[in-house]
Amino acid sequence: MNRHPAKFCFVIHPLSLEDVARYEPGAAGKGAPIIRKILEWMPSYAAAHITGVRTPDGRETEGWFVAAPLLPEQLLELPREDVYQRILRAIEIGVELGANVAGLGAFTGVVGDGGVTIAERAPIPVTTGNSLTIAAGIQSLFRGAAEMGIDPAETTAVVVGATGSIGSACARLIAPRVKHVILVARNLTRLAKFHDEVRHTLGCASSYTTNIAEAVRHGRLILTATSSTHDVIEPEDLPAGAVVCELSLPHDVSRRVALERPDVLVTEGGNMCVPGNPVFERVREPGTVFDLNLPPRTALACMSETMVLALEHRLENYTLGRGIDLQKVIDIEAMATRCGFTLADMRAFDTAITPEKIAATREAAERRRQIPA
Ligand SMILES: NC(=O)c1ccc[n+]([C@@H]2O[C@H](COP(=O)([O-])OP(=O)(O)OC[C@H]3O[C@@H](n4cnc5c(N)ncnc54)[C@H](OP(=O)(O)O)[C@@H]3O)[C@@H](O)[C@H]2O)c1
Repeated sequence: MNRHPAKFCFVIHPLSLEDVARYEPGAAGKGAPIIRKILEWMPSYAAAHITGVRTPDGRETEGWFVAAPLLPEQLLELPREDVYQRILRAIEIGVELGANVAGLGAFTGVVGDGGVTIAERAPIPVTTGNSLTIAAGIQSLFRGAAEMGIDPAETTAVVVGATGSIGSACARLIAPRVKHVILVARNLTRLAKFHDEVRHTLGCASSYTTNIAEAVRHGRLILTATSSTHDVIEPEDLPAGAVVCELSLPHDVSRRVALERPDVLVTEGGNMCVPGNPVFERVREPGTVFDLNLPPRTALACMSETMVLALEHRLENYTLGRGIDLQKVIDIEAMATRCGFTLADMRAFDTAITPEKIAATREAAERRRQIPA
């Protein structure tokens, strides 16, 4: 069957003031209050054109990153309807450029009901990209365990953000492979209800708490996927030799962990290698690269999910809201593999994690375990 290739758009937003300067070099050096005010008034715009995404069997797609240029806290705090309008306008810009499916990046997929209302109002199908993020996060967590010589079946795992769209699915997928799972979130009522719903199906011992530091102290495998706008995982709470898989954007793990805990392996779990020869080009300055702050040919798993849906011509609302269908996670992982997407090499705190770094981390963990508590 010879079908017209589908195209995608993906709504992005700056995660921090440094990101604003990366998107708009002219913003560098301006004060935070001015930047915030400018962003409040700045309309959505096409930021990057992505070409060269090609599957091993020769299928191609192209697409656009369209910015709804608000910071995470602005997306959460500004009037909900204004935020929805900004995101919907970004999708319309994508449609005007030719997109057939839209992805919601970072907090544009978190705000409100996790994409449900946006999908109802958008002219094309919408996904948050969370299903492939979940699949990539699970692969990353257990890859980290293997690298650190941890046997998951003998280990306690902690899922931070366990009632969320990503966290709740991750909890259900991690539990059958570990000895004990601790679920963490802020809202105790929702957390207790979720635990009650799933505890008999988890396949391991389980508990829950709103005390992140306490939970983290007990787990050697930690996956974090919160919608917090500040650090939630601090170096003093992590046990020796822990593996932390970070899915949150902006990140949950304090940068102090990189400096103060050489015995802990932190890995950004949601990065994927894009097949073909992908080029991310700035729309306003053709010929210049749009800096995603990732290695070349690498994209976030949520972006990758949107690309996969275009490549596979699955023009449907794929992942929306909380309570994700685990079959969709399995299906998008298989589709992504068929399209040639692979888990990116390990990386954290803007640095690649080399085999030498892993060996040094294991040695530091061994040394720390020998220090009497
Ligand atoms: N790497 C990727 O490719 C990728 C893709 C998509 C999304 N993301 C990121 O993944 C994260 C989660 O997204 P989501 O759609 O799953 O969000 P979500 O459905 O809103 O869930 C967020 C979860 O975090 C918890 N939480 C929020 N603030 C917290 C805090 N300070 N301490 C502890 N728990 C807290 C929430 O619990 P309460 O309700 O109890 O607060 C909830 O369980 C976001 O940062 C998003 O940007 C990454």
